[in-house]
Amino acid sequence: MGHLNKQFPNGFLWGGAVAANQLEGAWLEDGKQPNVTDVMVGITTKPDLKWNESTQKWEMALNPDKKYLSHDAIDFYHRYKDDLSLMAGMGFNAFRTSIAWGRIFPNGNETEPNEAGLKYYEDLFDTMIKLGMEPVITLSHYETPLYLLTEYGGWVSRELIPLWMRYVETVFNRYKHQVKYWMTFNEVNNLFLMPFAAGGCLDIDPIDTNEPTKGLTQKEKYQALHNICVANAMTVKLGHETNPDFQIGCMFSLSSVATYPYSSRPEDVLGALDYKRSRLLFGDVNCLGEYPGYVKRIWDEQDCGPEILDGELDLLKTYTVDYLAFSYYRSAVYKSGVTMKVDTGGSVGFDNPYLDKATPAPWSWPIDPVGIRITCNELHDRYHLPLMIAENGIGLRETLDENGQIIDPERIQYIEDHLKQVHEAILDGCNVIGYLYWGPIDVVSAGTGEMEKRYGFVYVDRDNEGNGTLTRTIKNSYYRYKEIIETNGACLFNQNK
Ligand code: BG6
Repeated sequence: MGHLNKQFPNGFLWGGAVAANQLEGAWLEDGKQPNVTDVMVGITTKPDLKWNESTQKWEMALNPDKKYLSHDAIDFYHRYKDDLSLMAGMGFNAFRTSIAWGRIFPNGNETEPNEAGLKYYEDLFDTMIKLGMEPVITLSHYETPLYLLTEYGGWVSRELIPLWMRYVETVFNRYKHQVKYWMTFNEVNNLFLMPFAAGGCLDIDPIDTNEPTKGLTQKEKYQALHNICVANAMTVKLGHETNPDFQIGCMFSLSSVATYPYSSRPEDVLGALDYKRSRLLFGDVNCLGEYPGYVKRIWDEQDCGPEILDGELDLLKTYTVDYLAFSYYRSAVYKSGVTMKVDTGGSVGFDNPYLDKATPAPWSWPIDPVGIRITCNELHDRYHLPLMIAENGIGLRETLDENGQIIDPERIQYIEDHLKQVHEAILDGCNVIGYLYWGPIDVVSAGTGEMEKRYGFVYVDRDNEGNGTLTRTIKNSYYRYKEIIETNGACLFNQNK
């Protein structure tokens, strides 16, 4: 019995993950301009834009009846020092957040960066490092500057590639001594189902009959995929040239790797395989460096292949990622004839009768810890790359009890059950390098835009109406996660606990 039977590997990254647009607030401060999520309340909803006849362009049209909680979020922008101290109090040695692209290049197409934005992240990373946390930085977490969509159409346009590279070069150079772990595009494999927020593409159904349809064709979506994959490869290349120690990863929503066939009917098994491939396509390109046969067949049969320029396939082949980061929240079941849907938690298909727990209504995400072990193993077998669990967590509805406390055994159970399965995956031979719990402090939900879906070990006093003092209160699970980290996971295997 090796030492790993009782704990996690040495140097394992323990921490949490958040995204600028869900916690910083200060949405127009210090020069920042709106990004895609600033015009939405939940990323599966329609963006609040209107067609301007005179300019023949789409423009922001916020709805006065809606609460855009992300605009102020939890005010991390001004409170990050205290918040990071709370994270350090759990013993985090890693903290994942994103750079809001629009703080650096407000509209995305300026030639000079915004120094106020650069300085903000420099101070933020410095604070993390001083507190003993490795910054794990996402370059784009649903944060494409809105202007790049209204002006260029977003990633459907090749023009975004050099604009992206200007941004990447700027932050790589500025933070090359502070940041080692980078992630390119958060959950960009949601592009096909959430093109606006996840894919950074102008994809709008007509809101009234006077407005033009801007819904993307399949061909345009594949063009966006290709442009993003080229940008990803160029980012890996530039990263390694900037600092050979950089670790550049891609990041996908991969709960759907744990998509189980409903039955042994060949149609269910083949359908599940096909479905998983649709979710793994980006990964196949970013990790293996080429377009797989199954997508070439679609391009061929449906005449929807992207334009690929000379040299781009070589670029994809040469500059594959150093590691694969992914989110896992729940599994799904594929049943022939049932349409699979996607939200921020992953895939939603047929209900799994073998899972008896779920997160509370209305979210009701099934809870399946074994799914994370299956996911790690399948990803390891396919890509043979280090794996970083960039998101895993449970959203609950919570209020302070009469003693001013939050006792959250469901969260403790969720983490323990998932971590035990991650540990099994490591014993299976998977090279899992870190576990970053999603939302270690309550943030605005990406899927629904609300505050009251709380993931945190730290409670933030703000409700769905935007009311509250923003006071932070430590929940009970904080102490358990601290203990898990302190013992490098060993306490999970102590039967007395
Ligand atoms: C992931 C996203 O899909 O899921 C996060 O990367 C998001 O941004 C997380 O917050 C949880 O989803 P939700 O909708 O509960 O916030």
